[in-house]
Amino acid sequence: MTDIAPDVPPCPLELRNLTVSFTPPRRNKFLRRSGEEKPVRAVDGVSLRLEAGTTLALVGGSGSGKSTTAAVAARMLDCDSGTVLYGGEDVTHLDGGALRARRRHLQTVYQDPFASLQPRFTVRRTVEEGLLIHKLGATARDREERVVRALERAHVPLPLLDRLPHQLSGGQRQRVAIAAALVLEPTVLIADEPVSMLDVSLRAGVMRLFDDLRDAGTAVLLITHDLPSAARHADTIAVLQQGRLVEQGNARQVLSHPAHAYTQALLEATPRAGLRT
Ligand SMILES: Nc1ncnc2c1ncn2[C@@H]1O[C@H](COP(=O)(O)OP(=O)(O)OP(=O)(O)O)[C@@H](O)[C@H]1O
Ligand SMILES: [Mg+2]
Repeated sequence: MTDIAPDVPPCPLELRNLTVSFTPPRRNKFLRRSGEEKPVRAVDGVSLRLEAGTTLALVGGSGSGKSTTAAVAARMLDCDSGTVLYGGEDVTHLDGGALRARRRHLQTVYQDPFASLQPRFTVRRTVEEGLLIHKLGATARDREERVVRALERAHVPLPLLDRLPHQLSGGQRQRVAIAAALVLEPTVLIADEPVSMLDVSLRAGVMRLFDDLRDAGTAVLLITHDLPSAARHADTIAVLQQGRLVEQGNARQVLSHPAHAYTQALLEATPRAGLRT
């Protein structure tokens, strides 16, 4: 007998008690003088559960550990201690082909679409690349169909297929980066400040894409500075302060009745702190 209900699907991404420290470079006379040569605890005991078909917003001030948490979740960075689980499987210490196979199900979209796109790859090649790496799509035609489907889902007009990144607008570039993630049909999408470099007029459209993905069953981890956006797009919210989670819960509830002084301070520092939309 097991006390786990058989119909509860495993959580697509779970982080348990993660810690990450960075050691500042040695032989830095300024650090030695100021006594700041000690390791920086960037992430300190962080636990998160990301459910399918939901968006979790990870918020916090600059340097609070959001991107470091995301990098550990994507297994791009090793943690000092703690556990990373994909679909209930402990992947903390996987590497090589085994890790690559699991990582296909978890894709990341970064803040700067220019930096994340290969400058000499056309839109078609950019989106096809993941299929080639993971040996998906038996024929060129099958791959082309998947590329077209991903571009359509990300609302990238097909006449852009043969353009290079510098021939695209910022919003188009970020949509191409999202299409490159979607082509692998991930169960988890991590978006680290995905719209902060985009013109305000383009942000809503890109954010709607994340809502659509969530509604289609993807688990979305949205890293953002923008608390009103977190309230609009996230189901749950987790607040990080200096590497520690200080508050976690229903997004609207946390932002309308913050329990922790740090969450209150973040809200007060937000110009559009109202939760009207
Ligand atoms: N590679 C690194 N080497 C040394 N220290 C690092 C490294 N990466 C991050 N840090 C430090 O870890 C802490 C957390 O950084 P992180 O990038 O996770 O913050 P963040 O919440 O994403 O900030 P931002 O909102 O500015 O993007 C900071 O103190 C940062 O200086
Ligand atoms: Mg960051």
